[in-house]
Amino acid sequence: MTAFFSFISGILFDIRLVDYLRRNRTIQEDHCQDLGYDGLAVLSTPEVWYYAMKLTEHVRVERSKSLYIGMQYQPEAGALLWDDDARPRSDSPFRSNPPSADATFRYTRLTPAADMRIDRGDNRKMALCGNHKNTASESWGRTVQGELVTSDRKVLDQRKLFSYPECALLCGMTLDCRAAEFNFDLLTCTLIGEYTGSGNMANPDVTTYIRTTF
Ligand SMILES: *[C@@H]1O[C@H](CO)[C@@H](O)[C@H](O)[C@H]1NC(C)=O
Repeated sequence: MTAFFSFISGILFDIRLVDYLRRNRTIQEDHCQDLGYDGLAVLSTPEVWYYAMKLTEHVRVERSKSLYIGMQYQPEAGALLWDDDARPRSDSPFRSNPPSADATFRYTRLTPAADMRIDRGDNRKMALCGNHKNTASESWGRTVQGELVTSDRKVLDQRKLFSYPECALLCGMTLDCRAAEFNFDLLTCTLIGEYTGSGNMANPDVTTYIRTTF
């Protein structure tokens, strides 16, 4: 378990670019399923998001194309959700935040400018296909010695773990995790969600993992 740092790999994220225009979102989603994917790609974590930005860079930047991705308004939930039912993280890169979607204006596209916009889904666009039960197997971030200095923090979880790498990986597997503090003395891993504040304070017992954000 050493691959935590800004490392881009095509193997760990199984998403596929469909770089031709099909009629609409429904037809693109069906096409993804014909290719063996669960549907359109779910880009719910910063790690998969940056991978998708690399994968689509040429079609977005050189060809100014938008792509359908796997997020839509779910009337039963009354909310915009990723197609694996995950709720988008608060720092998700929407063009206008919070996004406004409803039962007719319900789908999402990735724009040439690398943000997300709500879309009717009724016209021709490219697509990203993916599986919805991805288990994260890597996390991107950096390591700082000491604990975070925060004025406001949301603790998501705290548990006993034996090593810092396990703590960093657990953060990467937790959608809302932004940072994780590992205490070598107590062997505790604290997962932190949204926080305000910056910098870190020397504490020889604690190493902090700062996860990449959107
Ligand atoms: C896409 O086109 C098909 C066939 O014309 C239609 O059944 C479907 O409702 C359309 N989907 C959207 C989102 O417009």
